[in-house]
Amino acid sequence: MPTVADVREKAGDEPITMLTAYDAPTAAIVEEAGIDVILVGDSVGNTALGYESTLPVTAADIHRHVGAVSRATEEVLVVADMPFLSFGVDRSESIRTAGRMLKEADADAVKLESGEHTVELTEQLTAIGIPTMAHLGLTPQHVNQLGGFSRQGTTEEAAERILELARAHEAAGAFSLVLEHVPSTLARTVTEAIEIPTIGIGAGPDTDGQVLVVDDVVGLSERPPPFARRFGDVRSETKAAIEGFRAAVESGQFPADERDSAEEGVEGP
Ligand code: KIV
Repeated sequence: MPTVADVREKAGDEPITMLTAYDAPTAAIVEEAGIDVILVGDSVGNTALGYESTLPVTAADIHRHVGAVSRATEEVLVVADMPFLSFGVDRSESIRTAGRMLKEADADAVKLESGEHTVELTEQLTAIGIPTMAHLGLTPQHVNQLGGFSRQGTTEEAAERILELARAHEAAGAFSLVLEHVPSTLARTVTEAIEIPTIGIGAGPDTDGQVLVVDDVVGLSERPPPFARRFGDVRSETKAAIEGFRAAVESGQFPADERDSAEEGVEGP
C-alpha cells in the first residue's frame, strides 16, 4: 500500500507524478501507467459533472468518486480533494468530513485549498492521522474573490504571503504542497525553502513533482488551461468510434453476422 512517506521520500530523487482521476477505469489506467498519486479533484465539477466552476461540487460527490478510484487501484496514493464549504465553516464538521474520506471511501489523504484559515485545521487533521496536502497559489474555490483564474504571487507582497503560508503549512504537518499557477521563480523559492515536496501545476519546472487534470493530458477537455499540455487526442478518437457506430447501424453493417449476435454468446470483438 502506498503511503505519504513514499511520496516524501521520492522528493528530490525523482520527480513525483500526480494526475487527477474520477472514475474506476481511468484510475486503473493511471495506476497501470505508473503515476505516483491520484488526486480525486474538485475539478470533477468541470470535467465530469458539467459545472462552470468547482463551487457546486459537494463532499458527497468527492466521496463517491474517491470510492470508485480506490476500488480500482492498489499501488497509487489516492488523495481526496475537500470541496468548497466542506471545510472552513465548522471545525468538527470539517474534520469528520475529511475523516470519512479515509474511513468510508478509502482515500489515503486529503487536500485542502489553503490559506490562513487552514493552518490550524491542517495541524488537527495531521494529529489525528489524516495526512493533508496543502494547495497555494491559484485556489479555484476563491474564484469570486480572485475575479478569475489568473496567475497568483506576481507581486512581492503576494509572493511573500505564499512563502509564509507554505512554511506555516509545513510546520502544521502537511505532507506536501500543490503550487498552482504561480511564477516559476516563486515555485523554486518555495521548493527550496521547505522540506515537504512541492507539486506544481502551471508553476514551472523546479517543483518536486507535477500535476495535471487527466482530461487535459489525454486530450478530452474542450478548454484546457494555458499551462496544460495535451499528450493524446482521446476526444477525436472517441468521436470517431461513436460516428463509426452510428454509420454502421444506419448502413445496416452492424449487427452483421453471428459475431455481433448476443444469442451466439459472443461478448466482444
Ligand atoms: O481539483 C483539481 O484538479 C486540483 C488540481 C488542479 C491541483 O486541485
